[in-house]
Amino acid sequence: MKGIILYFSGTGNTKFIANKIEEEFTKNGCEIETHSIEEKLDLQNISYDFLILGFPKYFEYIPHNFIEYLKDNLYYSSKEIKTMIFSTGKDKMKIYFHELEKILLEKNYKVIVTKNFQMPDSFTLGKGYKKVTRKDIREIYDSSLADIKDIVLNFLIDNTIKEEVSDITASIYKTIYKFKTRDLYKNSLNFSVSSNCDKCNLCVNVCPTKNIENINSYIKFRDNCIMCCRCVNACPKNAILYKEKEHTQYKENIDLVVS
Ligand SMILES: Cc1cc2nc3c(=O)[nH]c(=O)nc-3n(C[C@H](O)[C@H](O)[C@H](O)COP(=O)(O)O)c2cc1C
Ligand code: SF4
Ligand code: SF4
Repeated sequence: MKGIILYFSGTGNTKFIANKIEEEFTKNGCEIETHSIEEKLDLQNISYDFLILGFPKYFEYIPHNFIEYLKDNLYYSSKEIKTMIFSTGKDKMKIYFHELEKILLEKNYKVIVTKNFQMPDSFTLGKGYKKVTRKDIREIYDSSLADIKDIVLNFLIDNTIKEEVSDITASIYKTIYKFKTRDLYKNSLNFSVSSNCDKCNLCVNVCPTKNIENINSYIKFRDNCIMCCRCVNACPKNAILYKEKEHTQYKENIDLVVS
């Protein structure tokens, strides 16, 4: 049985879980490959028997770029494809997957497992952000890793395990998402860099939407930011300012954010 994992990861958490899920499938004798949607893979050239999708939770919902990617790149499959969806969020609260499931069903992908994994909070710009230690991060990782074995086993034996939320909760989540993302692209106007910036261009190279430019040694932010926080968390000088303030980085090791 061959599978494919497609994920988007702003700052490395979702990638970490995707790689661990891959390891678990391999241990169970499956052939599996893992790709970020940023690789812009042509899915028509790959054949697979099952699909795993992963992304970070943004404002209690699915990142817009991930949904758009699937709409544009996932083709109708003539045979039904068994599918798992997972998200990573700063808490264990379940997420509303129904709309994504509907898009998948239209393309003949049947979702049998959904799961939100708790991971460290990447939204260090958020008002409610609490600083975490390396020990906290390790503990959160370990507790999420403990769930992977079970999820994969159940998926392999066709057990349906879905994390459901009520219609009322779903409509609250949808309202939050709509409200929080109404001016998302304008957020770029809030970014700047401090004098600590040494123009290394790391942020320019890693931004998933090419939203950052180095023009004559001035780091400029354009207007298509998705707030993934990769630049903020990856900058080796912690030089990216949001609303003119320096913000904590939640991982000390850049390799955990960008690799
Ligand atoms: C813009 C933004 C909004 C977020 N909103 C939520 C949220 O509503 N609920 C939650 O649990 N985590 C939220 N988070 C935290 C991330 O979902 C979490 O840290 C995730 O593991 C990051 O994954 P990544 O490293 O693959 O990007 C948010 C993060 C960002 C950057
Ligand atoms: S990653 Fe940081 S130091 Fe490097 S160019 Fe960007 S802001 Fe400047
Ligand atoms: S500029 Fe926006 S989209 Fe680009 S890395 Fe930074 S937060 Fe992400």
